[in-house]
Amino acid sequence: VLDFTVVPGTEVRTLLSGREREVIALVESAYLTHHGGATVNPDSYFLRFPDKPEARIIALPAFLGGDVNVAGIKWIASFPRNIETGNPRASAVLVLNDYRTGYPVALLEAAGISAARTAASAALAATVLAPSDIGTVGIVGAGVIARNVVDYLAAAGVSLEHVRCHDLREEYAGRLATHIGERHGGTAMVTSLDEALSCDVVVLATTAAAPYIDRRFDAGQVVLNVSLRDLAPQVLLEANNVLDDVDHCLKADTSPHLAEKLTGSRAFVTGTLAEIIHGTATLDPTKATVFSPFGLGVLDLAVGHYVHQSALDAGAAVPIPDFFGETTRW
Ligand SMILES: NC(=O)c1ccc[n+]([C@@H]2O[C@H](COP(=O)([O-])OP(=O)(O)OC[C@H]3O[C@@H](n4cnc5c(N)ncnc54)[C@H](O)[C@@H]3O)[C@@H](O)[C@H]2O)c1
Repeated sequence: VLDFTVVPGTEVRTLLSGREREVIALVESAYLTHHGGATVNPDSYFLRFPDKPEARIIALPAFLGGDVNVAGIKWIASFPRNIETGNPRASAVLVLNDYRTGYPVALLEAAGISAARTAASAALAATVLAPSDIGTVGIVGAGVIARNVVDYLAAAGVSLEHVRCHDLREEYAGRLATHIGERHGGTAMVTSLDEALSCDVVVLATTAAAPYIDRRFDAGQVVLNVSLRDLAPQVLLEANNVLDDVDHCLKADTSPHLAEKLTGSRAFVTGTLAEIIHGTATLDPTKATVFSPFGLGVLDLAVGHYVHQSALDAGAAVPIPDFFGETTRW
């Protein structure tokens, strides 16, 4: 039987709610599977538009082997001007393909899946890279990703007692601070950029296209460089640099890519998060650590597969009868 189901975003939200720790474990496992070579994760393809240089739609095809054994593609649009009308910047779908037949088996609304896997990777990195005594968390860029990251940091056991929120638009920083107070307690405050950058853990989740941060970070500080283009390359050269995948991250004018262009070398790269977890790469404790996750399609597959299975179990996947027009050759 060839089944095809759709999982709407509201169901995805319900299924992921309260499951942050499982998602972090799935993301860790996907990173280790990727490190072990049981994945195929080609370059993301960026569709851009001459009349809308700030917008893009990215295709992330991937195959995740190991226990999951699923192929698929995330198709995610980033239209930053959407926020002017209150709509989220990013929208996405994820197609899952059966590895036995190649047939697509599911279409999932994937903005929530993408935000969850991104936040889970940041939270995982915080627990792996930061010293155990994280006292303050600074957030720069107060959007959907920042909101997800704080929720996942809390699930990972990072204290949100003292959070400093900064955004170009103070109103958004205020929204994030309110969210943190209501959901996690503590004293989240709206602060200057500099105050946010002086925290033990710093989350960069802006839509900046080019670097504007050139200050040096202190030993032990951990910067979760989720938005990838805020830091001047010189800042990276003075830090430990942990990436999700080296080839992927040194592309598309990310700060690590700019550092490679500046120095003509990859010597500033400490290693991948999987290598740090395995102990085959180590951090210099006299330096700050910057985690730059390019965002791998295998993570979307890991979380998407989990959501799809949970939706099937819960009867929340919408079957599309007769989706395939031809199911026999003759
Ligand atoms: N690395 C990954 O895997 C990954 C995955 C998903 C999203 N992202 C990135 O995360 C970022 C945030 O996504 P989002 O959906 O939350 O976007 P969003 O538009 O909802 O929020 C971004 C916020 O950043 C603020 N901002 C922009 N430039 C700023 C600056 N220079 N200083 C301070 N604030 C600034 C904006 O006012 C806005 O409130 C995007 O750049 C996106 O590409 C990365």
